[in-house]
Amino acid sequence: MIGGSVRWSPVGAGGGRAGADEWVERVRAATDIVELVGQTVPLRRVGRNHVGRCPFHDEKSPSFSVNADRQFYHCFGCKAGGDAFKFVMETEKVGFLEAVELLSRRAGIPVPERRARDGQKRAPLLEAIDAAASQYEQWLADPQVGGEARAYLEKRGITRETQREFRLGLSLPGWENLVPRLRGRFHEDVLLEARLAGRREGGRGAYDWFRNRLMVPLIEPGGAVVGFGARAMGDEQPKYLNSPESAVYHKSRFLYGLEHARRALKADGELVVVEGYFDVIALHQAGVRNVVAASGTALTPEHAQRIRQMVRGVALTFDGDAAGQNAMLRSLGVLLAAGLDVAVVDLPAGDDPDTLVRRAGADGWCRVRDSAYDAVEFVHRHVLRTATGGDPRERALQVVVRMLTGVQDTIRLQLLVERSSQVFGIPERVIEQAVRRARVPDSARASSPVVPVPSRPVHELDRALLRALWAAPEAIADVRELVAPTDLVEGAARDLAERWWRDGVSIPSEEGEAAALARGLAAEQQGEGWDPQAELVGAVRRLQVRRLQDEMRTIRARLPSASPEESEALLQQVHDIGQKLKQLSQ
Ligand code: UTP
Ligand code: MN
Repeated sequence: MIGGSVRWSPVGAGGGRAGADEWVERVRAATDIVELVGQTVPLRRVGRNHVGRCPFHDEKSPSFSVNADRQFYHCFGCKAGGDAFKFVMETEKVGFLEAVELLSRRAGIPVPERRARDGQKRAPLLEAIDAAASQYEQWLADPQVGGEARAYLEKRGITRETQREFRLGLSLPGWENLVPRLRGRFHEDVLLEARLAGRREGGRGAYDWFRNRLMVPLIEPGGAVVGFGARAMGDEQPKYLNSPESAVYHKSRFLYGLEHARRALKADGELVVVEGYFDVIALHQAGVRNVVAASGTALTPEHAQRIRQMVRGVALTFDGDAAGQNAMLRSLGVLLAAGLDVAVVDLPAGDDPDTLVRRAGADGWCRVRDSAYDAVEFVHRHVLRTATGGDPRERALQVVVRMLTGVQDTIRLQLLVERSSQVFGIPERVIEQAVRRARVPDSARASSPVVPVPSRPVHELDRALLRALWAAPEAIADVRELVAPTDLVEGAARDLAERWWRDGVSIPSEEGEAAALARGLAAEQQGEGWDPQAELVGAVRRLQVRRLQDEMRTIRARLPSASPEESEALLQQVHDIGQKLKQLSQ
């Protein structure tokens, strides 16, 4: 049916679907899997097959076979298998089209125009960034200008060999070192777009963006440098100056160190995720190679997806500073939702992976890795340890519920619920119900595919109030007197409350998180005998308690630094709030 696909290909569109299919088939036909695999795996001919030791798992006797007639490979040990494209995807850790592109180049078949055009926009950017990386490397190696930076790295225990492996470099102090060297080879716009250069006011040319910093190239699998993290060598702020997002660097999917980790990854193995670039470098140097870091952000679903394609599990390290905590808890949920097994490596206070391996070596790392917590257990311990007010167990459970809301797989969710029930000593049924309620129902999501799932799950208490109001809208007049929208947690719940307090109870007409939340509430089925009035009364009271507790915390926090007069007034307020809280609990 060759004619069929050609007929439907839009004229002149260059690389429509049909063209792409044809290209893929041409590349397939031009590739011999035995020869391809044979480049990385020593193969021996046995009958109609070629056999060797499986590149995807450790084995002593060969159970990996490649079939020339049918052009596929199969491992009887680990069940890996597929065609030539799959082999390249697995070994090079690239997507399908990238794999086809690699094999296309290998076979000397031109890559279709559309893909090449994407490449054209990216190519000069990549070349310029790579040229910059080389220049920075040279400066670091330079006997004179690089001395201080090399001493810094040496003090941190990073060998020259590791520095070369990660292509570490140095940008010089002064405004005109890199740009003049690259100007002849690259258009100024390219240097600006790559944020290698900044633009001067009044059109007086461009200057070096990165100055006097240790340059950490951000390298994608395959070796392309897509940007830099530029670390200050002293106390200058910010500590890292980072390349901006560009046609080649996407922060939400970039994983630092993957180029160096990928060959150490096993499909049924795990990836260690740390926080800092230097943690990756130090662990790698110590011999722990399956390590990556995000660029100082929480892990995104894209990160998780990418990781899921390579391994089954993640060991997430956690170095316990306040800034990292919330990002960490968010990352946990994202990884679980992607179907990854998660272990949390809780490092001793004051340690990060870098200091730990420097002190205790790879063995030290393995010991802490082996005593990692599972996700539920970690949240339980962590929240209990750091909770500041309210009932810490309730808070911890809420964190767990939030973490589980993204898990779509029924079996996995059931196991996590069981685990939570064990850890918290709360019936499974209760946890399950809380998770179900905290979710935006599928009905709401399906009717409006563009609406994002609320970025911050709605607090169960806020949801209770809004749910009861939806069922008893006439009560809004009374509720308005007792509760303000600002008493609800910032985000979808507060936004929706603001509308309802102003316009009355209805589903907002503009799309957004508030509308999605309202639709979710509307779609909720309540059990028989559910009394919205009773739920409303309870929710209002608990919200008032929450507000007073928050006020109390704020006041208490001010006490230590207050003058004697001020503290008298503050103590009076504490007392008053205490009285109100007492009344509310009666
Ligand atoms: P760290 O401060 O832990 O960085 O921040 P590090 O790489 O371990 O650096 P050292 O050990 O102090 O030299 C973790 C990550 O957060 C991002 C970077 O990606 C860093 O690796 N970050 C940190 C920034 O983007 N900007 C900053 O100013 C600080
Ligand atoms: Mn560090």
